[in-house]
Amino acid sequence: MANYDVIIIGSGPGGYVCAIRCAQLGLKTACVEGRETLGGTCLNVGCIPSKALLHASHMLHEAEHNFAAMGLKGKAPSVDWKAMLAYKDDTIAQNTKGIEFLFKKNKIDWLKGWGSIPEAGKVKVGDEVHTAKNIIIATGSEPSSLPGVEIDEKVVVTSTGALELGKVPKKMVVIGAGVIGLELGSVYSRLGADVTVIEYLDAITPGMDAEVQKTFQRTLKKQGLTFIMGAAVQKTEATKSKAKVTYKLRKDDSEHDLDADVVLVATGRKPYTDGLGLEALGVEMSPRGQIQVGKDWQTNVKGIYAIGDCIDGPMLAHKAEDEGMAAAEQVAGKHGHVNYGVIPGVIYTHPEVANVGETEETLKEQGRNYKVGKFSFMGNGRAKANFAADGFVKILADKDTDRILGAHIIGPAAGDLIHEICVAMEFGASAEDLALTCHAHPTYSEAVREAALACGDGPIHS
Ligand code: NAI
Repeated sequence: MANYDVIIIGSGPGGYVCAIRCAQLGLKTACVEGRETLGGTCLNVGCIPSKALLHASHMLHEAEHNFAAMGLKGKAPSVDWKAMLAYKDDTIAQNTKGIEFLFKKNKIDWLKGWGSIPEAGKVKVGDEVHTAKNIIIATGSEPSSLPGVEIDEKVVVTSTGALELGKVPKKMVVIGAGVIGLELGSVYSRLGADVTVIEYLDAITPGMDAEVQKTFQRTLKKQGLTFIMGAAVQKTEATKSKAKVTYKLRKDDSEHDLDADVVLVATGRKPYTDGLGLEALGVEMSPRGQIQVGKDWQTNVKGIYAIGDCIDGPMLAHKAEDEGMAAAEQVAGKHGHVNYGVIPGVIYTHPEVANVGETEETLKEQGRNYKVGKFSFMGNGRAKANFAADGFVKILADKDTDRILGAHIIGPAAGDLIHEICVAMEFGASAEDLALTCHAHPTYSEAVREAALACGDGPIHS
């Protein structure tokens, strides 16, 4: 007899949420985690610590740039880097301990160690073999580097090393203008580093609405970040405390060098499935190393499921969480479902950037008939009072039916504002539905309503 109904391998947002839902559904559940704390990349070396540093460095930015204008006099605070790292570590600890508490509350066993699957129905952790009717792989992803770039996590770092630097570097080169590069680049720029971002493509944050990309890059430039676009990094050469980055400009193939105290490699992540024994089990994988799953998140091997960054789709904590809940329901004989058309994406810079659904570019590709409702935060009283009037809300709606197809926000609290539109999209709402909903004044949310009004007879405040 199996000693568990389900064993989940990995305790990141996909794995721990899945474990809690399995337990809530009455399944005897265990979760395997080899790290000393629960929570995976997101809580330990990703989303949560980076948000602490983004918050602290934003406070400094506010003190340096906006306090005097609000009548708050005095010198801006100086940075005590060790204390800032301690604040970040305390934030991590509060969150990881929170998951441990939730595991105890839900009677989930934490199997400490790295797991492998010797055969379907069995999970080996250390010397012990546990049996389970179902196994759910939630092992996440790891940074992917470039040929010629050797990571030492001291001078040439991934996001993991960038959260633990010995000091704030004077010069930082960021390879890749994606989410990680821009969030952590912003942190160090605000803390005083001279930050240069090298990006292969001609626009930052690939896949995002082109108008947002342009506004975002302009805003980051104004904040002091330097961009070298259309440039392919060839190699890095590092000593103990410095590095040289060599890149080639795509337009003329010319080669150039840049010196830095720290190089952050942020060129994407790849699925992490090492040591699970998937090849021997015959689990189907994509050429990009993702575990292949069906609509119920089950692999081709009966009883083995996979969710999160190690399968296809955006590598986002909340996408993994949704899959975790849905897979738990499938295992429990229910009908778990994820609406992949309504998964928001957020970049936690300042201003924040958020998006959901289609972009103008994808709608054009599909030959869809759409309209655009746009509203600038310049017309939002609350944003003006808070020195946060840079940016806009843009809603894309079907030209004939008015149904909302996507939304793109750059501006204050964009990462929170986007959810009103996500809910609307889940309910198949029209732009008019949003426009006719009373929004409290004065709030940033009014900008969302105004963008919805702009899809119809027009916004009031522009
Ligand atoms: P990314 O895929 O977002 O961006 C990587 C960038 O590197 C791309 O713009 C690409 O063109 C560029 N690049 C690739 N090779 C290059 C080369 N040789 N020279 C110059 N540029 C090059 O990857 P990133 O930022 O590392 O993030 C990894 C994953 O983690 C993403 O899937 C992201 O969604 C997720 N993540 C999400 C966060 C959020 O939701 N706020 C925060 C952090 C990570």
